[in-house]
Order: sequence, then structure tokens, then C-alpha cells
Amino acid sequence: MTIRFEDVGYRYRDGTQALEGVDFEIAPGARVAIIGQNGAGKTTAAKLMNGLLKPNSGVVTVNGTSTTTVTTAQIARTVAYVFQNPDDQLFRGRVDDELAYVGKIRGMDPSQIEATVARVAELVGVESYMESNPKDVPLAIRKFVALGALLVGRPAYLIMDEPTAGLDQPGGSRLIRIMDELTASGTGIVTICHDMRFVMENFTSVIAMAQGSVVATGTPEQIFSDDSVLARCAVQRPEAAQLAHELKMPSRIFTLDDVKTAIEESASEFRIHLEGPAER
Ligand SMILES: Nc1ncnc2c1ncn2[C@@H]1O[C@H](COP(=O)(O)OP(=O)(O)OP(=O)(O)O)[C@@H](O)[C@H]1O
Ligand SMILES: [Mg+2]
Repeated sequence: MTIRFEDVGYRYRDGTQALEGVDFEIAPGARVAIIGQNGAGKTTAAKLMNGLLKPNSGVVTVNGTSTTTVTTAQIARTVAYVFQNPDDQLFRGRVDDELAYVGKIRGMDPSQIEATVARVAELVGVESYMESNPKDVPLAIRKFVALGALLVGRPAYLIMDEPTAGLDQPGGSRLIRIMDELTASGTGIVTICHDMRFVMENFTSVIAMAQGSVVATGTPEQIFSDDSVLARCAVQRPEAAQLAHELKMPSRIFTLDDVKTAIEESASEFRIHLEGPAER
């Protein structure tokens, strides 16, 4: 079960060439962040993954099947796409109906739907809003309802377009807990993200895009070490890595924990220098 892009091009109806010559592969259970400046083609690539868009050239395959040969609804069973704006996705009058919808259209057993909805509602933190109209709850809750509505269908891949936008710190922590649970159960996660600290701390692979093409793929450490990739994608390192870079600290510093370790190490070297080696 792999998502594969082979020489993929996509042109919108008005003639905008949003993607050209895009190649990459997303393995089952992977945790991938797509980064790049506005208009780089991230959302277009994400929509091609679950067949919301079909390529004009090249091939997108999910589990070996070209997305042009199956319906979007069929692909969505395997690859779920969470819209950047939950209002583009939510359409039921109650949160609990929204969560149950996928189970109902797929003919899940009612007791199974009830149990799954209860488990997912707790995971995404919307239990106290079950009877509310999704339109009446705060944006962060709407985002979690939209996510939960897809998780009920147990997709093999979850594609999220800017999930951290509009979330406060507890919301961000909850998102990380949800991603960790999904990873533990083998679900692949692809996230478009402008928050490089979130990318550094929560993903194992990065696809860096610019102007409709993939500039580089690699681990966050590889991508955030490469000045030319960052310049081409107009992306800044996470703050901790940027600070370490400006202070000319060792290049292995990417997170605040790395900064702390480096400062502790240099402080202890400094103490040894002042006091001499410890007596035995
Ligand atoms: N519906 C559309 N019709 C025409 N052009 C579009 C459409 N949607 C996107 N584009 C164009 O396609 C290119 C890629 O857009 P896309 O939305 O995929 O970028 P993105 O990397 O997701 O950007 P952002 O970070 O702003 O969300 C841009 O030039 C954009 O203006
Ligand atoms: Mg986008």
C-alpha cells in the first residue's frame, strides 16, 4: 500500500501549471511533511493523492492502481483528505451525525458505528460537542470534527492540509497525540505544514516543494541543513536551528532540546577548564 507519483503534472482549467514532473513515493505508515512557499503546489499534490484531482500527465498510483481508473469515493476509503478549511468538508447538522456518516454510507453495523464514533470523539476531543451543530463550534473544534469524521473510516493514509493553522497550544498537543496513535496503528500521515518546528519535531520525512516541483526529499535534519534547498523553497529553519546557525553552533542542532544539550555540554567543559579535572 504505497502512494506513488511518477512524472506527475497538473494544470488548472485557467491554464495555471500547478505541478510539473513530480516524483515521490509515500510508504505505508510513513510520517511525511510537505513544505514550501505559498503557491508551491502542496495542496494540489495533496488533492492528487486521494483522487480529488486527477493528473493531466504522469501517473498517481495508490497501492498500484492509477487514480484515474477508480472513483474519488473509492480512493477516499484508503486515502482520507482533511481540507485546510473544515467548512469545505462538514455538512451535517450535528457533530455526532458528522462522525457517524462515513460508517453509515459504508454499511457498518450500527453498534460498531456507535463504538467507533465514541472512541474517535474521545481521541479528537469533541465528546462535549456531540449534539452541537458543527457550524456553531469554534474553528479548532470544527477542525477536529472534520478529522474525526474521516478517522471513523480507518483510512490507511491521512492527508492533512495545514492542520496546525488556527490551533492553540493544547490543540497542537492533541494533534500530536492523535498522530502518534495513528502511527502506532500503522496509518500513514502526510501533512502540509508552514510551522517548521512542528515539522522538525513530528515528522521523519520531508518533501520540499517550490514552483510546482519537488526540490528535495529527505529527513528533516537533511532538509534543514541544506541552505540551497531552504533558499529555493523560501523556507526558514525552525527557530532553534536558525539560532544555532546564526551563532555558528554545531550543525547538529535542530530543536530546543539540542540547544539545551549543547549549552550544558559547553558549560560543563567550561567548569572543567576552570576547576581542572575532577579529583578521583
Ligand atoms: N482552483 C485553482 N485554479 C487555478 N489555479 C489554482 C487553483 N488552485 C491553485 N491554483 C494555483 O496553482 C498553484 C499551486 O497552488 P497550491 O494551492 O497547490 O499551492 P500551495 O503550495 O498549497 O500554496 P499555499 O501554501 O498558499 O496553500 C498556484 O499558482 C495557485 O495559484
Ligand atoms: Mg495550500
